[in-house]
Amino acid sequence: MILISTLTPVFVAVLCVILACMWKSWHRSEESPPERSGAGKGTESRPWVDEDLQDDTEISGKENEEDDWAVAETENLPHIPYSPARYPEDKMLERSEHFYTFLNQRRSVRFISPEPVPREVIDNVIRAAEPWTFVVVADAETKHKIREIVEQEEEINYKQRMGDKWVHDLRPLRTNWVKEYLDTAPYLILVFKQTYGIMPDGKKKTHYYNEISVSISCGLLLAALQNVGLVTVTSTPLNCGPQLRVLLHRPANEKLLMLLPVGYPASDATVPDLKRKDLEDIMVFV
Ligand SMILES: Cc1cc2nc3c(=O)[nH]c(=O)nc-3n(C[C@H](O)[C@H](O)[C@H](O)COP(=O)(O)O)c2cc1C
Repeated sequence: MILISTLTPVFVAVLCVILACMWKSWHRSEESPPERSGAGKGTESRPWVDEDLQDDTEISGKENEEDDWAVAETENLPHIPYSPARYPEDKMLERSEHFYTFLNQRRSVRFISPEPVPREVIDNVIRAAEPWTFVVVADAETKHKIREIVEQEEEINYKQRMGDKWVHDLRPLRTNWVKEYLDTAPYLILVFKQTYGIMPDGKKKTHYYNEISVSISCGLLLAALQNVGLVTVTSTPLNCGPQLRVLLHRPANEKLLMLLPVGYPASDATVPDLKRKDLEDIMVFV
């Protein structure tokens, strides 16, 4: 009896140590990142790279090893000299001021004139933004079908999906689910990201960082439109992507990122009187 009562605290202490060890090892395995490309196959794990690549590229070593994925054959790609224009410092300053002033005039415009815009201008604007898939819709019937899909979904978005806070935050912009510009704009440009490419032999090609890349393209597209005096509004209609993809006969590897109505601003167009942030509010200089 005496022996048992003397040993009980020892048993409890040993039990606590065992439980603590078990908890620690379980917790450690929970924290360690899941294996991705290359990890566990003799190659070094690169969690910082692998995490960044996770923008729908859905890259995994396993997937890319499958037979239907192409391997880039660019070993013999020649490298050629590159020497773009170089300006004296005063010229650089002048150009940077001009470019800033010009881009600072860009605004999202939701009132677009039906006036026709030369097709060649749109071709060049898209050349400036390439690559990816830019579906340009000029056909009135297709534009109207797009409007019907967007308005139907946007009405549900505003009334149900977005929630009170989001709808309240948008109030200063005076937007709602009615999108007249989808009929009036001479062109609708629908930008699709390609989550992977398809080679002529049918094999899939990994598109690294596809979401970031296509977003950069959209920025260039906006600047190119501004450069020719056209306007747009970067619209991202929630829940419309799959229906618009089907309507426009786009393949399954493409996902709608942005819908841009493009044209001249209507003569009575207005924009919300938003103020840009000061440089001190956006730039951290170290
Ligand atoms: C990623 C992104 C998505 C947007 N989506 C929409 C949208 O679905 N509908 C809309 O009317 N405006 C949309 N906008 C436009 C913003 O409302 C607009 O850019 C913002 O009010 C600032 O105005 P500005 O572009 O004139 O400077 C979007 C803008 C961004 C950057």
